[in-house]
Amino acid sequence: MRNLPDTAKINKLNHLEIGGCDTVDLAKEFGTPLYVMDEATIRNRCRQYLQAFRKYYPNTAVVFACKSLCTAGILKVVASEGLGFDVSSGGEIYTALKSGVDPKKLNFHGNTKTRAELKMALEASLGRFMVDTVQEIISLDEITNMMSQRAAIMLRVNPGIDAHTHEYIKTGTIDSKFGVPQDEIEEAVNLIRSKKLLTLAGFHAHIGSQIFAAEPFVAETKLLLDLTKRYGTAELNIGGGVGIAYLSSDEPPTIENYAAKIAAVLKDKTNAKLVIEPGRSIVGTAGITLYTVGGIKAIPDVRKYILVDGGLADNPRPILYQARYDAKLANKANDLPTEKVTVGGRFCESGDILIRDIKLPEIAVADVLAVFCTGAYNYSMASNYNRVPRPAMVLVNDGQATLIVKRESYDDLVANDVIL
Ligand SMILES: Cc1ncc(COP(=O)(O)O)c(C=O)c1O
Repeated sequence: MRNLPDTAKINKLNHLEIGGCDTVDLAKEFGTPLYVMDEATIRNRCRQYLQAFRKYYPNTAVVFACKSLCTAGILKVVASEGLGFDVSSGGEIYTALKSGVDPKKLNFHGNTKTRAELKMALEASLGRFMVDTVQEIISLDEITNMMSQRAAIMLRVNPGIDAHTHEYIKTGTIDSKFGVPQDEIEEAVNLIRSKKLLTLAGFHAHIGSQIFAAEPFVAETKLLLDLTKRYGTAELNIGGGVGIAYLSSDEPPTIENYAAKIAAVLKDKTNAKLVIEPGRSIVGTAGITLYTVGGIKAIPDVRKYILVDGGLADNPRPILYQARYDAKLANKANDLPTEKVTVGGRFCESGDILIRDIKLPEIAVADVLAVFCTGAYNYSMASNYNRVPRPAMVLVNDGQATLIVKRESYDDLVANDVIL
């Protein structure tokens, strides 16, 4: 199934298995909710990106968008596959550096970087500064002079492209807080080029996330190619990668297909280096979340709810974007679906519904529910709403489960409360 990790199977006990590990055993050993990440799927996606782009446009660097999932254990796996990193805060920089990542392989994004973050990035000599506003050029000029340190800039432009995705994850329309508007590009380029310690490496745009159609990516690449030629720059960065199948009926393009279409715009027209920054399509399908069913509530002629021990705090995407998910009972993995239910979370919001109307086998309290495709933008957007500790994360591979993020404790929750 395209919305499950590559290693997913159903074992002899009728349990869902990922990375050679029985997920029912994982729930017992590590507790629930539990994020389970499949190392093989992460590695496969990194390799698919590298191979596809090497085939169609060899001068490509693949950079992992840390915002999708930023833990040291995951970054180490991705780094070992040869990818660079897109970081968008001091915290992501810190995590990447702690993971032993080469600072030159970090691209520092963000529309409002603080001065402290800019200093931190310059001290660490990060590879690229993705500049979002003219104001940021002025700040960088000041800080680079103060520190006698150079900065290589990629200018983020607003491409004015409306990609078909949720309003909140569109970033390339004219009415967007991201990127320098097209009529300010010339001024921004001149400003960068007038500064002693700043160099313009090239242009960047990002049109949004969870996009299936190739056309907006092609249009964006053409625009960046035009800018590359006009200003004689050496690098173009087209932002995030392809969308993924959250439901088995979703049909995203293959990575190979996406690479071929982008390469076709550039081939024989430029020697510039292409940079792509996939996040969701590297880690999204690699992750599942395990929950324990804590209650069942049937409202006659209305709806049957199954209530689980997690929800919007570990997966805010349904409440944020009306995102849809698929799931299985991990302990009844091959049983046929018999009833339509709605999966409700434990948090104090009526909107905390993880999945509306899904067909599942007959459910009992203490069953383990595995929700698919939770590897991207789940842990990284998780909160402590209702003062619930954030779940643990395990990395599974070849029958081994390694704890890579501890479950938070109640002590962690009060650690920053000054008055106790
Ligand atoms: C600048 C930039 N690059 C890359 C990404 C990653 O996008 P995706 O996870 O869809 O590949 C994002 C996500 O929003 C982004 O803002």
